[in-house]
Amino acid sequence: MDTPQMGIAARLAAKMSMAEQHEYLRSKVSRRRVVLGGLTAAGTVAASGLLGGTAQAAAPSPSLLTRPATDHGVHGALVAPFGRHLQFGADPKTQFTISWQVPLAVVRPFVRIGLQPWSLSHKIDAEVRELHTPQLLNSKLPPVDQYYLHAQIGGLRPGTTYYYGVGHDGFDPADSAAFASVGSFTTAPARSERFTFTAFGDQGVSYHALANDALILARNPAFHLHAGDICYADPDGSGQASDSADYDARTWDQFLAQTESVAARVPWMVTTGNHDMEAWYSPNGYGGQHARWTLPGDGFASTTQPGAYSFVYGNTAVIALDANDVSYEIPANYGISGGGQTAWLDRTLAAYRKQRGIDFLVVFFHHCAYSTTNSHASDGGVQAEWVPVFEKHQVDLVINGHNHVYERTDAIRGGQVSHQVQIGDTTRPATDGTVYITAGGAGRSLYNFPAPDSYEGHENQVDTVTTWHSAKGGGKVTDTVHWSRVRYTGYSFISVDVEPARAGRESTLTVSAIAETGDRIDHFTVARRAD
Ligand SMILES: [Fe+2]
Ligand SMILES: [Fe+2]
Repeated sequence: MDTPQMGIAARLAAKMSMAEQHEYLRSKVSRRRVVLGGLTAAGTVAASGLLGGTAQAAAPSPSLLTRPATDHGVHGALVAPFGRHLQFGADPKTQFTISWQVPLAVVRPFVRIGLQPWSLSHKIDAEVRELHTPQLLNSKLPPVDQYYLHAQIGGLRPGTTYYYGVGHDGFDPADSAAFASVGSFTTAPARSERFTFTAFGDQGVSYHALANDALILARNPAFHLHAGDICYADPDGSGQASDSADYDARTWDQFLAQTESVAARVPWMVTTGNHDMEAWYSPNGYGGQHARWTLPGDGFASTTQPGAYSFVYGNTAVIALDANDVSYEIPANYGISGGGQTAWLDRTLAAYRKQRGIDFLVVFFHHCAYSTTNSHASDGGVQAEWVPVFEKHQVDLVINGHNHVYERTDAIRGGQVSHQVQIGDTTRPATDGTVYITAGGAGRSLYNFPAPDSYEGHENQVDTVTTWHSAKGGGKVTDTVHWSRVRYTGYSFISVDVEPARAGRESTLTVSAIAETGDRIDHFTVARRAD
């Protein structure tokens, strides 16, 4: 649960790991109710050349290929795809994944793609991932079957807009009746140029979530980062076996339908929060996420922790982390990578820092390194295991969720203010330290602060805030901090304009925090001399 009133320490008293919960649930739910089984995995196969490149498509599931169109007594023409969501492949210049959902099983799902919306000349088979959720322990909800479809496309041209349509037997976007399924995406440019990206966490399904999505779409970002607690199908989120009583897989249908208006055009790059561990599907709780998303795997965690990956867009490297691995506060998945994720983070940041053409390292994940809310405050695990790595590589910006507010720190090093960053200031991570943002106001609910709000046009600064960080093994350690520079209790997101260096000047990230009303509530600039 993510209300300030929750007794988190009490919840930890009888903790089970995610793997133990998975075992427990599987042993308690009758096998008779498990009709379809879990994920359908499939490899990728090469397809014919695509618009001058080599396209790659995922192989469709044989089980659905052989299933008749009338499997549910419904012709394919009546089954409309929904919930389209784009994701980058490993290289955003040439690789994209188009994902979507259908309400009933379909035959031979596919994507059509082309350089004009009326000429989707290339047809690529899609992979099917079925997800079956039985009636879970102590739940009154019915069983649910969900059909997620994914087409991984490679061999694209950099800096190019493509149009696509999704379909299946009986529903072809090349036909006018199904033309509404046509969307578009644009690959990353070959050379760095100006672009915008957006970010938030803790969205769920709500009018506030819709309002933020609309504002984000209006900014036409190159991509969006979702810092976890994606939809709250698990509304409890305590990482405990009792969560299954309230778990509602159908919330994902609502979420993907809500998100389609923006994610059908803007790569929607998610990572995993505490509410995204779902014990039924797999021992690590991420089986459901693997069914719904195809995030860029890079050899580390693509098959175990879908929320840990990286990609490069222009002069910026983005690193997503699965903070459930290090959280002291909610430890159901604590240590699942055995330190592997932190070692990968260290290697990845070092490599990007050395890579020519990359100026900025942006890291996003769920649990906060630094926040002062009365609900979760700061996670001692993040501070102990990752902050030293961020400081070692002079990370330029850290974006978190988990606390349902907007909060922004001064530049920090060693837990202390290393450079005060007032609204409108410029900071240089190479010498000043790192600014940490909590952008958890995407739409779920709102928390509160122990100090008054202080944001652009309503500044109400205080010198110190008394807060805490979670301790290993449970409990809280009181902190008196000076780094809480901007606080806003309201629905919001951040929008970052990335400007590569020109004529010997610095490259800049101009960060704006935008309220649900459209008003700007904070802005500052991160500058770095290009190498
Ligand atoms: Fe959370
Ligand atoms: Fe949350």
